[in-house]
Amino acid sequence: MNIKITKTTAPKAKPPVDSLGFGKIFTDHMFVMDYAVDKGWHDPQIIPYGPLALDPSCATLHYGQAVFEGLKAYKGADGNILLFRPYDNMNRINESNERLCIPKIDVDFAVEAIKTLVELDQEWIPNGEGTALYIRPFIFATDPFLGVHPAATYKFIVILSPVGAYYKEGLNPVKIYVEDEYVRAVRGGMGFSKTAGNYAASLKAQEEAEKKGYTQVLWLDGVERKYIEEVGAMNIFFKIDGKVVTPALNGSILAGITRNSCLKVLNAMGIDAKEARISIQEVYEAYENGKLEEVFGTGTAAVISPVGELCWAGKKMIINNNEIGPVSQMLYDTITGLQSGKIEDTFGFTVKL
Ligand code: PLP
Ligand code: COI
Repeated sequence: MNIKITKTTAPKAKPPVDSLGFGKIFTDHMFVMDYAVDKGWHDPQIIPYGPLALDPSCATLHYGQAVFEGLKAYKGADGNILLFRPYDNMNRINESNERLCIPKIDVDFAVEAIKTLVELDQEWIPNGEGTALYIRPFIFATDPFLGVHPAATYKFIVILSPVGAYYKEGLNPVKIYVEDEYVRAVRGGMGFSKTAGNYAASLKAQEEAEKKGYTQVLWLDGVERKYIEEVGAMNIFFKIDGKVVTPALNGSILAGITRNSCLKVLNAMGIDAKEARISIQEVYEAYENGKLEEVFGTGTAAVISPVGELCWAGKKMIINNNEIGPVSQMLYDTITGLQSGKIEDTFGFTVKL
């Protein structure tokens, strides 16, 4: 399929690098492709970034048949533009599609579309430390129909946003509230997919945690509220008594690409890292015994985010004196080094434009 390109006639001014924040500014163009049962995915186009016209009865607005992804493009020191594991993101959107009854996309074509869009808007890739061009592909149902049924028409859109740190804390440790009342997902539900409803389900707990002075919540399992799942926008790792552990993929958490990259980096460095079921009680006991050495989150938006405080059932755990620990720092340096091309990529994570 050929991508038809219509360039904007009114390019916007680029923002100063120190004012970026996360997800507030969008580039000049977007990629749009439609789906209809009789045509499949068709009419791929790049057009000026702008509002969409939707029927008020559009299925997504009522029933949330929508999936999304998040990945980043970086400008390397040598001027090369690098995408980090884009095929993994497009494979994961197809896993989400499968769960939400959305027709799959062609992974190679979707990566080509992303490359074409990023190339066109490459001047928007910011250059400062900790910045990148965030890529947000998403698919949603467009049927004007109020019956609860998988739709027959969809849009696949990719938008781009120059970003800095996701949390205002940057690389400083964040405070996380362990949520023991609300739950995000249960096994058999949609927790493993990146679908709008999971994030809607998270808002109430997030809002209450923020009122208590916490940045995000750490979810526990939806049945017993015992086992650790993940944080609002990132997976979670613990370093206990010299060993790194992250919750095993169980169907209710997102299989984070940064999580997987960290496991690979840790393995390659000979650091003991495993995926296992881990309870909040075990983490608390490790803390009481002085063995909870580091806690950090991993995600595309969050990169590596050290956790300085966990609050569980009124008990506060201050981790590593509220400072970034050596494993978190090493992973931050290695992952961002690989992403920006400063470190030679022996893992095959990056894709050059
Ligand atoms: N968990 C949730 C709920 C997320 O939204 C994200 C962000 O994408 C992650 C984990 C981390 O996933 P990844 O590393 O693929 O960005
Ligand atoms: C990401 O890290 O890409 C995410 O999707 C997290 C978030 C902004 C929802």
